[in-house]
Amino acid sequence: MRTQVCIIGGGPSGLLLGQLLHRQGIETVILERKTKDYVLGRIRAGILERGTVGLMREAGVGARMDRECFVHDGTVISYGDDQFRIDFTEHTGSHVVVYGQTEMTRDLYEAREAVGALIVYEAEGVTIHGADSDAAHVTYVKDGTEHRIDCDFIAGCDGFHGVSRQAIPLSTRREYEKIYPFGWLGVLSETPPVHEELIYAGSERGFALCSMRNANLSRYYIQCSLSDSPSDWTDAAFWQELKRRIPGEHADALVTGPTIEKSIAPLRSFVTEPMRWGRLFLCGDAAHIVPPTGAKGLNTAASDVHYLYTGLTQHYQGDDEGLERYSERALARVWKAERFSWSMTNLLHRYPDMSPFDIKMQQADVAFLRSNTQAQSVLAQNYIGLPY
Ligand code: PHB
Repeated sequence: MRTQVCIIGGGPSGLLLGQLLHRQGIETVILERKTKDYVLGRIRAGILERGTVGLMREAGVGARMDRECFVHDGTVISYGDDQFRIDFTEHTGSHVVVYGQTEMTRDLYEAREAVGALIVYEAEGVTIHGADSDAAHVTYVKDGTEHRIDCDFIAGCDGFHGVSRQAIPLSTRREYEKIYPFGWLGVLSETPPVHEELIYAGSERGFALCSMRNANLSRYYIQCSLSDSPSDWTDAAFWQELKRRIPGEHADALVTGPTIEKSIAPLRSFVTEPMRWGRLFLCGDAAHIVPPTGAKGLNTAASDVHYLYTGLTQHYQGDDEGLERYSERALARVWKAERFSWSMTNLLHRYPDMSPFDIKMQQADVAFLRSNTQAQSVLAQNYIGLPY
């Protein structure tokens, strides 16, 4: 088989890239290691930046998102019982929207199927060959038979554990990593959200986040120990702990109920450089991971897709500048998202080894943010998404 761009990974980055390229008349094949149901069963992020919303519309898949999303003009930050609001619209003239990654992925699958573009599910043993040559190709095994795809370019959208990053020789690759000494225990529950906006909560007992998917589906998280397992937490214990970490007013208003999903995610900051090796381009989690505290994971993947899609489109029009500068441009924005996610994490989490001095520094950081409109503006600009 031959195609123009072979996309490894059928998650949101790969699908979004495929759809944007399709609209430019560029042919792609997507290889996905899992089944469609598996991909759609993963519960992931829920906040889309303006730029991500723009790309969904540009890809022709914005209709349901525009109909069903919630516009959020601000967010609540709390620390113990104290709380204040950061007004995105006041500081940036813009907002974010609540629309689940799962919904976005579903829309993208539908669009891809509607145009008849190929996705190979359960593609095993995906291997990249000759990415630094003019004979780039990808092989994979499906139903016991090996297949080969020759292509102009390979987009590595296969996440942190994927094969794409590993295809770049270690002598070329430089990795930066920070592992945080805690995780997030997340639950989904068919209950109305506790508040109309998200609540990012710091407390003596650790971080908590009140988020949502729709009017009757809430997503809550609490900072937990890395040694915890979801089965250690009964629903009752989860709700009780959440209530202790958010201001009393919200704890009193919280509607609890049975949880329909419960999982623990470790927190990690990670970047690999460069994001391009010959004809291979990394996108999203394949190249970088952020802790979820700033809602930057999916949105940073989307900005990579923007740079890559623009570069590929220009290439087929005879201009290679966008591809030549892909890694540099993507990384410049990635590092800023890394910094923001790291600082939001530090602002609101309890580290096991925090000294009384460290705690005072955290309290002063929150107090400064509470009283300083420029600091609030900095947070708002980062949260709604830096320009591409
Ligand atoms: C979510 O709704 O899952 C969510 C929202 C904001 C975050 C992280 C996760 O910062």
